[in-house]
Amino acid sequence: MSDDPVVPKGQDIWGGRFERRPAELMQAINVSIGVDRRLWAQDLRGSRAHAAMLSRQGVITSADTTAIQDGLAKIEQEITDGSFPFRDQYEDIHMNIEARLAELIGPAAGRLHTARSRNDQVAVDFRMWVRDACDHAVAQLTALQHALLDKAEVHAATLMPGFTHLQPAQPVTLGHHLMAYVEMFGRDSSRFQDARARMNECPLGAAALAGSPFPIDRDFTAGALGFDRPTASSLDSVSDRDFALEYLSAASICAVHLSRLAEEIVIWVTPQFGFAHLSDAFTTGSSIMPQKRNPDAAELVRAKIGRIFGALTSLTLVMKGLPLAYAKDMQEDKPPVFDAHDALDLSLAAMAGMVADIEPDIERMAQSAGSGFSTATDLADWLVRALDLPFRQAHHITGAAVKRAEAMGVGLADLSLQELQSLEPRIDHGVYAVLSPSASVASRTSYGGTAPDEVRRQVARWKGLLS
Ligand code: ARG
Repeated sequence: MSDDPVVPKGQDIWGGRFERRPAELMQAINVSIGVDRRLWAQDLRGSRAHAAMLSRQGVITSADTTAIQDGLAKIEQEITDGSFPFRDQYEDIHMNIEARLAELIGPAAGRLHTARSRNDQVAVDFRMWVRDACDHAVAQLTALQHALLDKAEVHAATLMPGFTHLQPAQPVTLGHHLMAYVEMFGRDSSRFQDARARMNECPLGAAALAGSPFPIDRDFTAGALGFDRPTASSLDSVSDRDFALEYLSAASICAVHLSRLAEEIVIWVTPQFGFAHLSDAFTTGSSIMPQKRNPDAAELVRAKIGRIFGALTSLTLVMKGLPLAYAKDMQEDKPPVFDAHDALDLSLAAMAGMVADIEPDIERMAQSAGSGFSTATDLADWLVRALDLPFRQAHHITGAAVKRAEAMGVGLADLSLQELQSLEPRIDHGVYAVLSPSASVASRTSYGGTAPDEVRRQVARWKGLLS
């Protein structure tokens, strides 16, 4: 709240019509500078483009334009060196900058807001901010994909169990497992890119809601601010927050993927699984149990979906049922977006760090890859190929073999030829070639399959796509 609630009448921005200061509670609920100060760079950029356009169009004089541009440069200087006075009394970032401009350059500052409203001002500022956030997410996702690709390449042939229902299903390679996440994060990246392309229209010039009677050049400001074109409806321009919803949707889906990988890391590093090891860099100890090495970073990444999806829910509900055009409800758009952005930023960075850090226990994984009769499907497939049995019958015989091995407490490859022939007399020695996990993975050479060469091919394909 304002340190100085008694501002002399006439100094408030809309003081012309108002006789009394707002109640303290009014200020408390209305003030947003603590949050939207993060838009300062976008606000300055938008104002510079707007002033340049007004000048080109002859709406303001070049002397006033120069004063405004110099003042805005001074403000940028103040904000970067920490001396800028962010004041609650001026409500938000837009009015804080405008008020400061007036202090610095005098009455010319009042001309900057010609043909502009805070409604299109905040819309363009926030769009530029979210656009940057999309670019940032894409860059971070690319870094995470590179970390995964490097690991996948090294471990293209490292055996591990592939699971369904978290039960051993068929052996795969660790490289293949990691490449699944490369695909997910690739789709996440393309979602951010799609959202960015759609949001890249400039709302500046919509003014309050109806457009402007001044001879403004919206193509000029759109171009100057890096947009593809101006938005086509002034009403939509000031009331649309789809771009933020799309960002949050993409962020939520990405956070789902991050939480899945985080959960796998949590499972892998348990002593019970013992599949992998995280270094001191990404674990913490316990204050009471000296043996502990906890994967806190992975757990926190797993949890961040709560904030991120919460942000999507929050903004969706803010927007629901809002009549056109701008309403102050929309000031509630920034906290969820900023919060989700910060959570995603940390999660993506921490995940890239963990992926680079994690070291698999290759022996343990290989041993586990062979457990749980994981090559049963290979046996069934062999029966189909070598003996021309219908798959259903092969499945039945294999089931009997698993039952036999289970009763004897051995693996499928440990059953003697005699045992196997008691189930199907035509089985011969050739069957043992498919019962090992390494033979199993090597055989799965179909496009996108787990064979090490295929994994290497996918790694190379992605490295090409990302370079
Ligand atoms: N701080 C406001 C927001 O973020 C700026 C727009 C204010 N517009 C208005 N008509 N009061 O929404």
